[in-house]
Amino acid sequence: MTKPTCEDTLVVKKRDLKNDYYSLVLAPFSQAKSIQPGQFVHIRLPSTDIYFRRAFSVASVSPVKEEVEIIFKVFGRGTKILGKLCKGNSLDLLGPLGVPFSFPNKKERAVIVAGGVGFPPLMFLAEKMIEKGHNPKQIEFFYGGRSKAELVELSRLKKMGIKLHLSTDDGSAGTKGLVIGPVEQYLKKHLKEKIKLFGCGPEKMLKAVDELGLKYDIKGQLAIEALMPCGVGICLGCVVPLKAGGFARVCCDGPVFEIGVVNIAC
Ligand SMILES: Cc1cc2nc3c(=O)[nH]c(=O)nc-3n(C[C@H](O)[C@H](O)[C@H](O)COP(=O)(O)OP(=O)(O)OC[C@H]3O[C@@H](n4cnc5c(N)ncnc54)[C@H](O)[C@@H]3O)c2cc1C
Ligand code: FES
Repeated sequence: MTKPTCEDTLVVKKRDLKNDYYSLVLAPFSQAKSIQPGQFVHIRLPSTDIYFRRAFSVASVSPVKEEVEIIFKVFGRGTKILGKLCKGNSLDLLGPLGVPFSFPNKKERAVIVAGGVGFPPLMFLAEKMIEKGHNPKQIEFFYGGRSKAELVELSRLKKMGIKLHLSTDDGSAGTKGLVIGPVEQYLKKHLKEKIKLFGCGPEKMLKAVDELGLKYDIKGQLAIEALMPCGVGICLGCVVPLKAGGFARVCCDGPVFEIGVVNIAC
């Protein structure tokens, strides 16, 4: 695994994805080429009164330009500051951190379940899978949000040629209801196929994906979030309980864990 570095980067591109979602492209980051889907960067906020860094999954990289993209939704104090940054502003980046997703075998169908702001690392996973020769038609990307406005980067996902299944709580796009319903319907119909499940999103959704994996005996991985004071395995501020007993540090034992391993709280 690549050693993380801490570097000053510049915002080289900012996109307003609407509804408080933003994309920031940061460069140059010397380790951009080694970042794998599921890994994250820990960002120091340009503010004197916010001490802790914030973790963001990498949404894409450009190895040649040494660029790293993050996509976030303005939530609290930290993301509000990030949302106000402009092209040319600098940001201190620590990474790449964490255990990445493992790529499925090319014969396996990937069933990807993204909830809300959990989609960036999964979009990166799909993109890298295709780059490595996976047939996009073998990638079933289930993407759920509260409403149509909460589903961002749809044209980018569609361009990949993957099978996109949308769902919204209010029915304003795709199937009405939680994303997990269509996922279970799909799994039931394709039980004879070789499938690998991937998930990232709210805890309730992750718990439901975990349960589906165990119920239908389908292997897979989940990317989990936790508050991360240090991000590098020292402070134990990010621990989660394991089903087998004991604890794991999300920052360095994860954030990607196999299905059935973490006792996900809701
Ligand atoms: C591995 C990982 C990947 C993530 N990827 C994304 C992503 O791709 N997009 C996205 O939008 N969000 C992502 N997040 C969540 C993100 O890190 C922020 O926590 C979230 O966006 C809210 O941040 P905020 O600063 O706006 O909220 P705030 O309201 O400022 O912070 C929320 C609360 O958490 C506390 N807190 C925040 N950070 C820390 C810390 N480092 N240590 C201790 N306490 C802390 C604050 O004090 C506050 O009480 C990810 C989190 C993890 C762990
Ligand atoms: S954030 Fe400090 S050990 Fe994980």
